[in-house]
Amino acid sequence: MEKNKEIVLSGIRPTGFLHLGNYFGALKNWARMQYEYECYFFIADWHSLTTHADTSELSLITRRLVAELIGGGLDPEKCTIYAQSDIPEIPELYLYLNMLAYKGELEKTVTFKEKARRQPDNINAGLLTYPVLQAADILIHRCHYVPVGKDQEQHIEMTRNFAERFNHRYGDVFPVPKAFSYGKDLVKILSLDGSGKMSKSEQQMNTVYLNDDDELIRKKIMKARTDQGPTEPNSTKPEYIQGLFTLLGLVSSQEVLTKFENDFNLCQIRYGDMKKQLADDLIRFIAPIRNKAAVLQNDPAEIDRILTMGAEKARKSAESTLVEVRKALGFRHL
Ligand code: TYM
Repeated sequence: MEKNKEIVLSGIRPTGFLHLGNYFGALKNWARMQYEYECYFFIADWHSLTTHADTSELSLITRRLVAELIGGGLDPEKCTIYAQSDIPEIPELYLYLNMLAYKGELEKTVTFKEKARRQPDNINAGLLTYPVLQAADILIHRCHYVPVGKDQEQHIEMTRNFAERFNHRYGDVFPVPKAFSYGKDLVKILSLDGSGKMSKSEQQMNTVYLNDDDELIRKKIMKARTDQGPTEPNSTKPEYIQGLFTLLGLVSSQEVLTKFENDFNLCQIRYGDMKKQLADDLIRFIAPIRNKAAVLQNDPAEIDRILTMGAEKARKSAESTLVEVRKALGFRHL
């Protein structure tokens, strides 16, 4: 590991297959950052317990995700890939940070309110303190940048607050990390019906997974919500149309994007043609990722090797942070 590189960390919950939101919001940046920073990327299996109590498939999904992350561009020799549950130092830091997190701010967190609404019979304490565990994930490596999509912005802001509170009360241990994207803004990929963000666990037909076969990708795109087209030149695009243009901008050529932008502005757009083009370009983009992930998934020994190597490296970094944390807190009895 090279010295003096700034540190990057990010994670993903093992609650389903990776989709275009995960790729363009997170993984695309991760794959580039691994060549420029010291990077830690992990599967947040403890976090998934806040919403998915059944653990029977957890290990399977975790391992499948490792294959997908590598299919999407991570190189386990360049970055550290591990499962959160292999790092017992994280819960100790979580405990200390819990004393710096207030009930009121946790209850106001947007993701908490959404999940509490969705699972009113299971508003567990882990759900409430989800952002504290996330802060422990980030701070355990004293990291500088956290590449995430727009939906995680508030959690990173909370991590910054917890880090500042800790430093203020016990002395400077943590850099205050920043949310990161190579683009100007953090990315938000919309669901294909334009009704919110694309997500792992819901709306299967409105989410394009990196595991979808060519035919399914085409079917989903051709079913995506459109309308009769604009009637006034240079109209503002409705969100569901903007979502399709965003995808076109990410996977198609500049000429293709410009052509459909012009057609839209001149009220000549044929959404059927645009969706056909988008489906072709998405298929071309997704197929090699899917194929590479499938090859690795058939090699469980290699996935084991990657996770073991990652956990060893991550624990070393986590232990050295905990030494500083305990020192700052005055716990030095051993
Ligand atoms: P998760 O598993 O929901 O998503 C993983 C990453 O994908 C991004 N993402 C999106 N980006 C753009 N548009 C979308 N529609 C979209 N959907 C998902 C997310 O922003 C995220 O970057 N709480 C985290 C997991 C986590 C974590 C961490 C992340 C646990 N500890 C520490 C960073 C640092 C989550 O639920 O991500």
